[in-house]
Amino acid sequence: MDQVEETYIMVKPDGVQRGLVGEIISRFEKKGFKLTGLKLFQCPKELAEEHYKDLSSKSFFPNLIEYITSGPVICMAWEGVGVVASARKLIGSTNPLQAEPGTIRGDLAVQTGRNVVHGSDSPENGKREIALWFKEGEICQWTPAQAPWLR
Ligand code: TYD
Repeated sequence: MDQVEETYIMVKPDGVQRGLVGEIISRFEKKGFKLTGLKLFQCPKELAEEHYKDLSSKSFFPNLIEYITSGPVICMAWEGVGVVASARKLIGSTNPLQAEPGTIRGDLAVQTGRNVVHGSDSPENGKREIALWFKEGEICQWTPAQAPWLR
């Protein structure tokens, strides 16, 4: 848990359409993680399929791809100690009706198929997804100048 990790966080099209981008970014900022990549992006079908390839046999896969490509998303890379598991806790359960109040999905969503945000499920997938969604030069490594209490 004391490893510095990277995770890929994405505000899905419904989050962008509903004006929740600032609110969602703010949850990770306030927690104290470090933003290293950020862009608004219209995802092509092939990229959505690659990102969710482990779910390609599921019945909901075509709907999932249609949803993720239905409008622009906000792509983010976040860095920090234990950031992968912590971000998943901040995001909450896949089904927003089962997500705890206080989590992003628990507070802001009702449908599994419109659950506003994605977060990598392992450090390996964090690296894989950041490499998939960002080009070289789009990730910015930086040291917070005034905040030695953040890691
Ligand atoms: P999954 O990786 O299981 O969940 P999470 O996003 O919490 O890591 O599933 C990826 C996405 O697929 C999920 O966020 C919403 C969609 N999905 C459905 O539309 N229906 C379903 O029954 C499931 C399990 C997921």
